Amino acid sequence: MTETDTCISRYFPYRDGSLYADGVDLKTLAETYGTPTYIYSQRSILDAYQGYEKGLDGIPHLIAFAVKANGNIALLNLLARQGAGADLTSGGEMFLAEKGGIPANRMIFSGVGKSEMEIRQAIDTGILMLNVESAAELRAISEIAKSMGKTAPIAIRVNPNIDPKTHPKITTGLKNNKFGVPWEQAEPLYEEAAGLPNLTVRGIAAHIGSSLADTTPLLHTLERLLALYEILKGNGIAITHLDIGGGLGIRYDQESPDTPEAFAAKVKEMVGSAPLTLVAEPGRSIIGNAGILLCKVTYVKQNDEHSFAVVDAGMNDLARPAIYNAYHRIDPVTLSDDKQEPVDIVGPICESSDVFGKKRLLPPCKAGDLLAIGSAGAYGFAMASYYNGRVRPAEVLVNGSEHRLIRERETYEDLLRHQVLD
Ligand code: LLP
Repeated sequence: MTETDTCISRYFPYRDGSLYADGVDLKTLAETYGTPTYIYSQRSILDAYQGYEKGLDGIPHLIAFAVKANGNIALLNLLARQGAGADLTSGGEMFLAEKGGIPANRMIFSGVGKSEMEIRQAIDTGILMLNVESAAELRAISEIAKSMGKTAPIAIRVNPNIDPKTHPKITTGLKNNKFGVPWEQAEPLYEEAAGLPNLTVRGIAAHIGSSLADTTPLLHTLERLLALYEILKGNGIAITHLDIGGGLGIRYDQESPDTPEAFAAKVKEMVGSAPLTLVAEPGRSIIGNAGILLCKVTYVKQNDEHSFAVVDAGMNDLARPAIYNAYHRIDPVTLSDDKQEPVDIVGPICESSDVFGKKRLLPPCKAGDLLAIGSAGAYGFAMASYYNGRVRPAEVLVNGSEHRLIRERETYEDLLRHQVLD
């Protein structure tokens, strides 16, 4: 093994045979906080965020972090301090973004099923725009705003019917997906919106899918949004915000998507001098490779020809491999020269899909060894559950040689919260 081969990213380097998170040895973090624990690199988050900033420098823009990717308020606060906004999918995420210090006028609210309560919450707090996903929702927002004596700022999320070429469970911009307003219905719906009371038509939005290794479909979408912007301008509807959604992928294995900076620079070039604020809603590309899930081998076992390393993290902690068959690299925290052997890395949960990696080549594992599951910062903790009566893991933020707990490990008491015995 060479050191560069085995690093998850440059923010998680090997030093003297030990895996580090930035300037801190993961062994120290395991001793301090226990396992399983999500570990995040602050520098990695900030560099990705700043990549978007640099690429879009010179045009008005807002980088609205997709809170669904990771809703830890310490991380939201870190981003808030850089000027980030938030892309929200529920009232609960709005609450988290507020707690993280993101101002309401940098928040966008997408989602096909916003409830009346959530719409009221959004209007009340003064968010930048509600991204409307249907005619029925548009009419409901107008009614609600009217009843509140307020004006609701809206964008219409159009469904451009563009194939993002990603996992079928995370495409959102194909015409058979539930998301957005069909392309052909967008123009008449804008006309209707312009005539409805208590609405301010502010933007055009799209989000075609997540984890795109090739950005061509995203740029193609932007092209269509710009064309719609011109049409609406011709119809006397002045759009001020163009929201291209999220979707930029990261390297999980061998993929080589654009960096945030390279992608954003292409976006900037296409937007040119149009008098618009460009909005992006990245989640994964900011936080995905900034996090790992640190876990410990509990047992090693052999069934017939098959070797298993059972670790103390499970699919309740990181669901992506079980749900999407997603690949996450797995690296030993301590390097060894022993011959690598294929081993399945599995969790303790009573499901055969509780597998983090099959036939991974690793030096022979033994109980107590630490493993790092890579690219776990996005949709990791965010999708964690209490399944099998397991409490959710701790989260730790590393900055240089400093580290701090940003979420305590839950306890059994958390399993009881809100339960009613009689
Ligand atoms: N904006 C909207 C409206 C979205 O629905 C999403 C993600 C994003 C932005 C952020 O997309 P990103 O930049 O992270 O690709 N649980 C799945 C991912 C589901 C993504 C849902 N929407 C996974 O673990 O891969």
